[in-house]
Amino acid sequence: MTSTVLTGISRLVTNDLQFGAPLGFIEDAALVFEGESVVWVGSAINAPEADTAVDLGGRCVLPGWVDSHSHLIFAGDRSAEFSARMAGAPYAAGGIMATVGPTRASSDGALLSRAQRLIAEMAAGGTTCVETKTGYGLTVEDEIRSARIARAAGVDEVTFLGAHLLPPEYSHDAQGYVDLVCGPMLEGVREYAGWIDVFCEQGAFDEAQSRQVLTAGAAAGLGLRVHGNQLGAGPGAALAVELGAASVDHCTYLSSADLELLGSSDTVATLLPACDLSTRQAAAPGRELIDAGATVALASNCNPGSSYTTSMALAVALAVLQCRMTAAEAIWAATAGGAKALRRSDVGHLGVGARADIHVLDAPSEDYLAYRVGVPLTHAVWRKGTRVR
Ligand code: NIG
Repeated sequence: MTSTVLTGISRLVTNDLQFGAPLGFIEDAALVFEGESVVWVGSAINAPEADTAVDLGGRCVLPGWVDSHSHLIFAGDRSAEFSARMAGAPYAAGGIMATVGPTRASSDGALLSRAQRLIAEMAAGGTTCVETKTGYGLTVEDEIRSARIARAAGVDEVTFLGAHLLPPEYSHDAQGYVDLVCGPMLEGVREYAGWIDVFCEQGAFDEAQSRQVLTAGAAAGLGLRVHGNQLGAGPGAALAVELGAASVDHCTYLSSADLELLGSSDTVATLLPACDLSTRQAAAPGRELIDAGATVALASNCNPGSSYTTSMALAVALAVLQCRMTAAEAIWAATAGGAKALRRSDVGHLGVGARADIHVLDAPSEDYLAYRVGVPLTHAVWRKGTRVR
């Protein structure tokens, strides 16, 4: 196995608190990886030799972004809906159906190549671990196909979101659709998905329906995630905590009881600030969640309706500028926080043994991500020890 030493690191964010809070910084650092794993981190003056040396010229190094929430398996275009929204039309859950028809009509090859293009775009922006969801098929066949294509696209985690919206063919039989999701759909996607999710929101699925979906998923051995509290107050966050979900995602409208529950649970509150911006919602309560003791993650929510961006740098900048998180809190949330939301210990940090997912910023410190908002700062990226940018 060949080894590589990275030198010329002004600041290395390890997220390993043995190097001190916040973020386990090492100044004037070096990092060595061998194969797919980090094997050494420390001060540059102590760096061991390696087969290859790369001088990063005084740049800041972070763990690759962990994007724990995206919807990459889709077809169609909703730019007109976006423009209508900018002219004053509200965002509504029902917009999801505008993507379902084109997705069902699309070929496997077209769905796969779009997902691969988006994953490449993510990597170019420093994202090295990706979760994606089904949810634009909404038939047994199309949900299984979406999960299979997500797996083939090479994402790290696949989530089954058959309970994204009630499709029109079941508009008079919601219970029939929930039973389909919990029965044959779940049975078919299990081969490809490690997680189950439900859109628990007015206009999508109510608390009882969401509970049925999550309980069936847990019985089938899948981990739980919830879309909740996106468009208004609701039961999603509390249900996620009650059922021990790994994350509740969106969290834009939380009550003080929700904040308290999340603050004393292992359920990660995943914020999607680019979605809040693109749908003209309020800024999510990032500061309040952190002050309540909650674990916060940041993700892109890349999808064609509410957040058509792959940029985790934007999510970090918005978390600082709008959710009143510090730069250190936002970077932790977009790396280690995402890893916690996916219950993974191999990514989101750069300690010894971590996956060699390395993001080099063309900046001397992590503060620049919000300070230079909108400027692409990714200089180089390694994923599993292979340079991808
Ligand atoms: O996370 N909230 C539900 N699902 C997506 C939106 C999908 C769409 O509008 O197509 C989300 O925002």
